[in-house]
Amino acid sequence: MECGNILPGTAYTPPELRALALRRLSAPRYLHTLGVGAEARALALRYGASVQDAACAALLHDMTKEDDQLKLCAGYGIMPSGFELAAPKMLHALTAAAFARRLGAPEDAVNAVRYHTTARAGMSDLEKIVYLADFTEPFRRTLKGTRSGLARLRALVFIGLDTAMDCALALSADYLAEEGKPLHQDTLEAMEEMKGKATRWA
Ligand SMILES: [Fe+2]
Ligand SMILES: [Fe+2]
Repeated sequence: MECGNILPGTAYTPPELRALALRRLSAPRYLHTLGVGAEARALALRYGASVQDAACAALLHDMTKEDDQLKLCAGYGIMPSGFELAAPKMLHALTAAAFARRLGAPEDAVNAVRYHTTARAGMSDLEKIVYLADFTEPFRRTLKGTRSGLARLRALVFIGLDTAMDCALALSADYLAEEGKPLHQDTLEAMEEMKGKATRWA
């Protein structure tokens, strides 16, 4: 497994990370990753964020998703919370962030990877860009089970980051409520913060 210090020849650049993603990910997830990379670049240009960091964080965001999460957590010294252990899908955000840090990604890019599943209060523009690009990337056909939600979010994402975050968080919350799953504390805090910041979108 390519983790820890064993990432031969890989650097923190979009071409290197695309090559790494191609080696590590299944075809559908590789395509999704390329889509998030392209969308994150476009959003970085729109909002004046670092295009390099947006592309790299996007290419890294699901880089460990097909690995054994508990093994990677042990390898990286990550202690998952009870909530995360009960929702193991979320663990890839933690392990991919550790992976990104080992590659030399700057802290803002590491955090963009770390919070791409839950969001959090006080997100940087780069964190919001990667969170949103994961939803609006061009290969995605539905979002949380709805086409209309995805269309609405795509219409908002180039209008304002906070307005789009408010919409994306609401869609996530509705989906989790329908599934009978609880919201992570970080998501609740992000929603609370966006209530006061976002322009009305519905
Ligand atoms: Fe993910
Ligand atoms: Fe993703």
